[in-house]
Formats: sequence, C-alpha cells, structure tokens
Amino acid sequence: MEKKNQAQEINRRRFLQTGSVFAATAIFLPLSTYKAFGAGNFSQTEISIPTVTLNNGLPMPILGFGTNTLKGEICVRSVSDAISVGYRLIDTAHIYGNEEFVGAGIKQSGIKREELFITSKLWVDDSGYESTKKAFETSINKLGVEYLDLYLIHRPRGDVKGTWKAMEELYEEGKIRAIGVSNFEPDQLDELMTYARIKPALNQIETHVFFQQPNAYDFLKKSEVQMEAWSPFAAGRNDIFSNQTLADIGKQYNKSIAQVCLRWHYQRGIVAIPRSTQKAHMIENLDIFDFELSKSDIQTIAKLDLNITQFPEWE
Ligand SMILES: NC(=O)c1ccc[n+]([C@@H]2O[C@H](COP(=O)([O-])OP(=O)(O)OC[C@H]3O[C@@H](n4cnc5c(N)ncnc54)[C@H](OP(=O)(O)O)[C@@H]3O)[C@@H](O)[C@H]2O)c1
Repeated sequence: MEKKNQAQEINRRRFLQTGSVFAATAIFLPLSTYKAFGAGNFSQTEISIPTVTLNNGLPMPILGFGTNTLKGEICVRSVSDAISVGYRLIDTAHIYGNEEFVGAGIKQSGIKREELFITSKLWVDDSGYESTKKAFETSINKLGVEYLDLYLIHRPRGDVKGTWKAMEELYEEGKIRAIGVSNFEPDQLDELMTYARIKPALNQIETHVFFQQPNAYDFLKKSEVQMEAWSPFAAGRNDIFSNQTLADIGKQYNKSIAQVCLRWHYQRGIVAIPRSTQKAHMIENLDIFDFELSKSDIQTIAKLDLNITQFPEWE
C-alpha cells in the first residue's frame, strides 16, 4: 500500500452495536489497492474498524493485531504488514521478548505514532512500585515510543498493589493513556478496585468460542471494564480452523471460520487481537464488518463452549 494511502482519514461516527450498548467510532481505512482473495469479499473499497470507548474516554480499536511468539524479522515484517493493511492496535508484552521487533515494524510501516494504539504488559518478575517504573521505561525504549496507549499487569501475581500505584502515577504523568490488567479473575479485579484511585480500563483474558467466559463477561460489563480477548482463535487449538459448526455458519455469509470467530467477538463488544504472519490472513481478519451473525448463529456458537481453558500449561 502506498504511503499516502496509509495517511488515513479518520472519520468518527457513533453507532449502537448489535447486542451491546457501547458507543463506537469508525476509523475508515482505504483498502482499494487490495484484490479479492479466499473467502473474503473485497468488492468494498473501504473497511472500517470501530472503536470502543474505554471508561476514561479513550477510544480503542475493537480489532487489533497480536504478536505473541513473533520474533526477529518475521515479527518486524508481520507488524509492518499488519499496519499497512489497516491494523492500528498492536498488542505486545515484555515477556514476548519482541518489543524491539514490534518497534522496528512500527517504524518500518511509516505510520505516525499518534495513529496507533500500542499495548504492552508488565511481566510478573517486574511487579512492585520501583520495578514497574523501570520496566515501563525499558518497554517504551525497546518499542521506540514515548508513551503507551495501554499498559497492563500481565498476570495477577506479585505486588499488584505497588505495581498499580506506579501505573497510576505513569498514567497521571501522561506516559500511558489507559491502564488495565490481564488474566484477572473477577474477585482479583474486585480486590484491586478496593484500593485503586484509577479504575482499570480493561481486562485482557483468554476468550474464544471454546472458552466463552460468560461470568467474566457479565462482571466486566457491569463494572464498566472493557473485555479484551487473547487468543481469539484459541491459537488454532482444538482444530478450530476445521470446526464444522463454524464452517457451516460462515458458509451462509461467504465468510471463513476466522471471520465468524472475529465477528462473534465483535458482536459481543469484545476487543480481539488475532495474530497472523500471513498478509492474506491479516486482510481476511479485518473483513468482518459487512455481515451479521443471527441470533440462532449466536445460540449455536454458545453450544461450542467447553468452559475450560485451552492453555492449561499457563495455569
Ligand atoms: N495476556 C495474555 O496472557 C495473552 C496470552 C496469549 C495471547 N495474548 C495476545 O493475544 C494475541 C492472539 O493470540 P495468539 O497469538 O495466542 O493466537 P490467535 O490469534 O488465537 O491465533 C493465531 C493463529 O491463528 C492463525 N490464523 C490467523 N488468522 C487466520 C486465518 N484467517 N485463517 C487461518 N488461520 C489463521 C495464525 O496462523 P498464520 O500466522 O498462518 O496466519 C496463528 O497460527 C497474542 O498474539 C498476544 O498478543 C495475550
């Protein structure tokens, strides 16, 4: 995509999303240089990535790009490709060991910093007041940025209270635009909120059709904390990409299993951050805003819930 096409015109419009009550903004991203491929319908010349509004008023794209396991040149190219096809939300973490490659991909994309929404996460080894401040500086230096849009406590371990205090201060200094958590159970989030001066904006948790997290969903909605899905495709586990139920649903709309999964997250108002190293998949995963899963599709997908993590090794 030409650089000048990348300088996106950002249109904002409010709308009510099916099945949820949050107001959103649409960022229009011209994709006119891309041709139709695979299951995607690319007759359109523009796609739009709506945003959710976090509880501090910050808009965040509802669909972004995950980078876990991406390293080196593959990471640089994937991040740069993702940005070139329209992603603006990029998710990384200190523990992924790729912040410098993500930063290089961002630089290579040529997109202005302020057009991006960059998330990183504080690993458990760095928990505590002083170490959080240091770890934050390390992360932004590796990424080559002056601020983060979102900084999360990666796991509810160690000195969460000290960590949160440091994150609140970084937020107040304008170095982070929103602060939140990841992998927090409702009771752990409740506890944090007893002493937090600044309420967490978001909780990033494992969520996909095989682990739908209805309790966390209700709790986060009630608490006005945005839910974000990690591994929205269960990282391919449980043969998700050959699941017949999802394939049958997709066939009705000429959409792929990946697109059905991402549309399902979108209709629930959940931010999703799929990872891919393939440009064709990246484009396909953005093409979810021109169809709607029916009530009966949603009921069918509800039956796929195994109500158990697909990543027991991380428990
Ligand atoms: N907070 C946490 O504790 C936590 C934990 C895990 C993950 N995360 C975040 O969540 C992000 C996403 O999760 P994930 O990386 O575990 O996996 P994922 O996004 O659920 O799945 C990635 C896999 O799906 C494949 N894929 C992507 N698009 C596809 C398509 N259209 N058709 C077929 N296959 C497709 C990719 O292969 P190709 O490369 O071939 O496309 C890759 O193998 C991570 O990258 C990370 O940023 C956070």
